[in-house]
Amino acid sequence: MKTAVIGTDTGEAKKWLEAGQVVGIPTETVYGLAGNALSPAAVARIFEVKNRPTFDPLIVHSNSLEKIAQFVTEMPPAARRLADACWPGPLTLLLKKASLVPDLVTAGLDTVAVRIPNHPLTLRLLDALDFPLAAPSANPFGYVSPTQAEHVQAQLGDKIPYILDGGPCQVGIESTIVGFEGPELVVYRLGGIPVEAIEHIVGPVRVMAHSSSNPKAPGMLKSHYAPLKPVYTDGLDGLVDRYGPEAVGVLSFKDLSPDVPAGNQFVLSAAGSATEAAQRLFAGLRYLDGLAVAAIYAELLPERELGRAINDRIRRAAAR
Ligand code: TXA
Ligand code: MG
Repeated sequence: MKTAVIGTDTGEAKKWLEAGQVVGIPTETVYGLAGNALSPAAVARIFEVKNRPTFDPLIVHSNSLEKIAQFVTEMPPAARRLADACWPGPLTLLLKKASLVPDLVTAGLDTVAVRIPNHPLTLRLLDALDFPLAAPSANPFGYVSPTQAEHVQAQLGDKIPYILDGGPCQVGIESTIVGFEGPELVVYRLGGIPVEAIEHIVGPVRVMAHSSSNPKAPGMLKSHYAPLKPVYTDGLDGLVDRYGPEAVGVLSFKDLSPDVPAGNQFVLSAAGSATEAAQRLFAGLRYLDGLAVAAIYAELLPERELGRAINDRIRRAAAR
């Protein structure tokens, strides 16, 4: 197939989706690779384009609670409170699946991941469609997620017809995934809504997002979101000694490092804002990955609020 058209025409995206194709869509978190969630053929195409193992389930995106009620069999009160407080927004809920949702979407699990994304173009698209959109992040499995239409174009552009361009993603890291184990709330993936904010809405939650071999959600695999170059979170001095200052890239939170050339560095937020750091994180990793460096050193943020989710992505990028 020739390369994907990038545009802002939701009618064009709708046309391809109704024809069973998959397209790139913007969300506030990262770009998604979207297809008709109720069509097993379209969902199979998502797995194929992304080169994603079919045991890794997809998130179903919709634009209203009324529609989501058709895809689940129950909405526990705590889930409802989270939905009311966070949607549209970077929260994904794991709820008991209704039979309407194909098993391929949920990898045979009895839960389905649902969310209402907060992006005006994608909300308009969802409003115009009579089906929800299954969409994983629009990157090849295991690589850094895309936060601009150009990132999708560069990696999957030869496999899809259209990318809906919604500009750079405003949150920049994936949604927080929350599910239930009996009466207990569990955070399975740290993301755009900090754990502190979730606890403010529903009280204490258990965070299970750290396990390296947690089969519940492969997005929690220890090595994920990874650039091609090796990433380290400690030992900058040793890297500079080993490779030389020209061959080390640095991702820092606020300040340039005096140890390597400025052109080899990406500062996440000179103002020290974790929100801005999250917005720029994946673009920064891509930038450094594209340099002629042998290794990337990434500085961790203070371990709170969004800093926790950012550090989670950096640690996974460093795990291999
Ligand atoms: O912000 C986001 O969530 C983005 C945008 C596009 O919405 N999507 C995203 O999708 O990050 P993906 O496929 O890259 O990550 C979804 C994660 C995967 O780790 C998957 O294993 C997990 O959600 N997941 C999906 N359904 C699940 C289920 N029923 N039970 C447990 N984990 C599930
Ligand atoms: Mg992903």
